[in-house]
Amino acid sequence: MRGRVRPPGDKSISHRYAMLAAVADGQTIINGYSTGGDCASTLACLRGLGVRIHEMSRDERDGLQIKVHGVGLHGLAAPSRPLDAGNSGSTMRMLAGFLAAQPFATTITGDASLRRRPMRRVIVPLERMGARVASQDGRPPLIIEGRRPLAAIDFQSEVASAQVKSAVLFAGLYTDGVTRVTEPMSTRDHTERALEAFGAQVKRAGTSVAIQGGQRLIGGVRRVPGDMSSAAFWMVAAAALPGSEVRVEQVGLNPTRSGVIDILHRLGAHIEIVRAPETGDEPFGTVTVRHDEMLPLEIRPEEVPGVIDELPVLAALATHGGDLRVSGAAELRVKESDRISALADGLRRMGGSIDESPDGFHVHGRVRLTGGEVDARHDHRLAMAFAIAALGATGPTIINDAAAAAVSYPEFFSVLDSLRV
Ligand code: S3P
Repeated sequence: MRGRVRPPGDKSISHRYAMLAAVADGQTIINGYSTGGDCASTLACLRGLGVRIHEMSRDERDGLQIKVHGVGLHGLAAPSRPLDAGNSGSTMRMLAGFLAAQPFATTITGDASLRRRPMRRVIVPLERMGARVASQDGRPPLIIEGRRPLAAIDFQSEVASAQVKSAVLFAGLYTDGVTRVTEPMSTRDHTERALEAFGAQVKRAGTSVAIQGGQRLIGGVRRVPGDMSSAAFWMVAAAALPGSEVRVEQVGLNPTRSGVIDILHRLGAHIEIVRAPETGDEPFGTVTVRHDEMLPLEIRPEEVPGVIDELPVLAALATHGGDLRVSGAAELRVKESDRISALADGLRRMGGSIDESPDGFHVHGRVRLTGGEVDARHDHRLAMAFAIAALGATGPTIINDAAAAAVSYPEFFSVLDSLRV
């Protein structure tokens, strides 16, 4: 693999900017908005709530530019039909924080994968704040009956989840007091940064974040950096394949998202990082990765939140001759698919050797892949991780449902072609 690539706009940051822009005062222009299906689902839901959003331009280099006409904190309108979050857990869980505070009831649903995912983690705190949420035994569709104002709470989350933290902080905007979320381990801090970018204040202390209700948000011009989780596929491919060197440009370097860089470093890959001067809300820069011999690797539970979305591609990396043990990652079982069992099944079909445990896996990378026919199970990260594993196999691989990649990275397979030597 050789060449340069600019990953699509960060998915996590795009969702947050769109939601905050929707309830801000004034217009917001978002540059580099993610081209993925999940972020389009967020825009569709916001439109369903009466927010006007225009696509201003779409271009291969600079991605998507959108304009959101903010309706103000209290300006969302009752939707005329159920909101559809598609495949996007982030859309459903984070938007639930806003819906909990509306003077109307909203039904929000999603595709078959999303309808299997656990929502109690947001239902419990939002009900404590005063909303009523009906679900199918903790799963979507959700019918959220909002209340205003909500009650401020001090919430200890059992799961380390940025989506849960975000839902509670967003709901916290609609209280008369201070809402605090404490996590078992720190997760990505895009919501904290995004709230600040829109003019609100949050207070952080250890693994807690607090927000004072009633703060108004102010629209403006925002730039979304490239998505580290998408860039990770090329960084891993470059680390895995002898003779490779890939440069990833304008990629987000938020320390809560760049765990994969530390891991590639530990594994023995050559990595060069050039940071852009910090002018915006999120750090970014250029990362160049070059192959070298791979060392065996262990990812410990405390590292998991920082690489949660990169674990499938790191498993793929290990099939290229490494060895990877992961523990403390039970959350992988409730992502877009049960990623532990789907990875184990797929990699075995490609001739790999992988042991599953309830909260992790062990890839024995010295077993060379032969290739085979695998199923992405409607899971974008699996479709792309299998492709990266397949590059090291002695025979061809067929990935069924590969189009799932478009949920976060519609350009993935054309970029793969362009980087292949
Ligand atoms: C996300 C947080 C993570 C991650 C997901 C996006 C976010 O989920 O896996 O892809 O944007 O906050 P959890 O917060 O549920 O761990």
